[in-house]
Amino acid sequence: MSPLGRGTASDGSPVAPDGSPVGLYRAFPAGREPEIIHRAVPPAAPILELGCGAGRITHELTALGHHVVAVDQSAEMLAHVHTGTRVHADIETLALPERFPAVVLASYLVNTIVPGQRDAFLKTCHRHVTDEGLVLVQRTSPTWATALKAGHTVRSDRMVLTITEARLESGVLYAAQECRHGDTTWTHAWTDVVYSDREFEEVVRAAGFALLRWLDQDQEWAALQPLPR
Ligand SMILES: C[S@@+](CC[C@H](N)C(=O)[O-])C[C@H]1O[C@@H](n2cnc3c(N)ncnc32)[C@H](O)[C@@H]1O
Repeated sequence: MSPLGRGTASDGSPVAPDGSPVGLYRAFPAGREPEIIHRAVPPAAPILELGCGAGRITHELTALGHHVVAVDQSAEMLAHVHTGTRVHADIETLALPERFPAVVLASYLVNTIVPGQRDAFLKTCHRHVTDEGLVLVQRTSPTWATALKAGHTVRSDRMVLTITEARLESGVLYAAQECRHGDTTWTHAWTDVVYSDREFEEVVRAAGFALLRWLDQDQEWAALQPLPR
């Protein structure tokens, strides 16, 4: 769900500059993400989380024993983060004084279609990771992007999520979803550049990383190691 998205909230609640409705990302369950991150990094390792949103992953990582420095450009998202250290900033220009053994760039931000933004995000990861540390990146899986179809609906006890647009054209995914939760309906449309495994490996290498391993079967989550500086 890369930036340059569009979002709406039927209850008039705020939408982040990248189009993510704040209420939607508050309501989404944390899912498998915190465990994937936790298992990949040393116990109690401090974590820099870029694009933390309303703390969906942050709060669970804290519960798993990590101090999280949580960064987001949306003050309205950050207002809901109630653990760790909150930093209101753009990822691209972030320059904290410390480095971290683990840096997380989740939510498909690496698939941004905004010119120059992907490399700026990866540079920020590189600036903030220790020499022996890991950068954990969640990318849009090409298999998932190919299989995504408009009309697909996922129901849980908390919400009904329907894919309302899914077009993969020349390696770019144009997608939108509608989520109903109680009386509220949110929409979120986004555009992702989809990378094959080989393209992804080339992108991260050009940014100064080696792809160490995939962390999940879907090959969404990659562990990157900084190359010697
Ligand atoms: C789709 S939301 C996901 C939030 C969270 N990672 C989660 O999984 O619940 C993406 C978040 O990234 C933030 N974001 C997008 N582009 C950003 C940028 N350039 N700098 C800082 N934050 C950004 C948005 O404000 C939003 O909160």
